[in-house]
Amino acid sequence: MKVLVIGRGGQVARALVRRAPEGVAVETLSRPELDLAALRDADALVAVRRPDVVINAAAYTAVDAAESDADAARAVNAQGAEAVAAAAARLGAPVIQVSTDYVFAGDKGAPYVESDPVGPTGVYGRTKLEGERLVAAANSSAVIVRTAWVYDAHGKNFVRTMLRLAGQRPELSVVSDQQGCPTFADDLADALFAIARAPKPGVVHCAGAGETTWAGFAEAIMALAAERGGPSAKVQPIPTSAYPTPAKRPANSRLNCAKLQGEYGVAMRPWRAALADCVDEIAAGGWRVG
Ligand SMILES: NC(=O)c1ccc[n+]([C@@H]2O[C@H](COP(=O)([O-])OP(=O)(O)OC[C@H]3O[C@@H](n4cnc5c(N)ncnc54)[C@H](OP(=O)(O)O)[C@@H]3O)[C@@H](O)[C@H]2O)c1
Repeated sequence: MKVLVIGRGGQVARALVRRAPEGVAVETLSRPELDLAALRDADALVAVRRPDVVINAAAYTAVDAAESDADAARAVNAQGAEAVAAAAARLGAPVIQVSTDYVFAGDKGAPYVESDPVGPTGVYGRTKLEGERLVAAANSSAVIVRTAWVYDAHGKNFVRTMLRLAGQRPELSVVSDQQGCPTFADDLADALFAIARAPKPGVVHCAGAGETTWAGFAEAIMALAAERGGPSAKVQPIPTSAYPTPAKRPANSRLNCAKLQGEYGVAMRPWRAALADCVDEIAAGGWRVG
């Protein structure tokens, strides 16, 4: 099977390259090759690689910047995603569109299932939701995979940020009233390959098992780092109101992943176990998180 990944430098794209299973050839298209904000050659660039499946792991992911840069976010997350899906459709190939927990408003008192009403609270979530709809319309075999709180041993993410700040400060203030499911990029990549083997059109949720808050996540990172002799700081839980950001985040963005298990036989690992593996990897790399 040949999988074409849109995006190369992102944490999910890199995990897909690292985790490619036996018998799966992965090719990537980087932003300079295919700029989703300035589409010209999507059809030709995708067609020439003759993929069996296309995974779109590229997106405008700067949640706060998107608030004042809506046109750019929309160009990538909506129109760009649509063009990729359409290019795959013309080859008869399914597209797997990576989407987000931020399509939800966050006011549900339980983890979200795929059929729950959406209601994004910011530009990023709105443009990703528009992308979901355009992708599904452009490619009848499309699978929309919503994930959440993605981290990796590389790239820009919460785990690395917390470790970097722990090396600079004795105490970290972290919001404790937003709930979610931390997801290790490696586990997400493994799940995406399972989906790619037998895609079933529709939406499916895919996030680390269990749930926590950002403060709980930070405490777990600090504990794991301390056990391994890495940087660690005290976590001071704070309310969202004490940490104002341009984009409003959902208070609850937990994802129920029962459908993933039912349709694809994929059980995501408990988030703490996955986090331990990631911290091990960062420790093995000498705690380079700058
Ligand atoms: N990170 C999370 O917590 C999270 C949560 C839920 C869902 N997701 C979704 O997961 C997917 C992957 O996210 P990630 O965490 O891997 O994000 P990331 O590390 O920020 O990577 C995003 C990638 O998109 C590429 N990109 C941005 N603008 C582009 C453009 N105009 N044309 C082509 N490529 C462009 C970037 O290219 P450069 O390398 O050139 O910048 C980068 O490779 C996205 O769909 C995101 O919405 C992420």
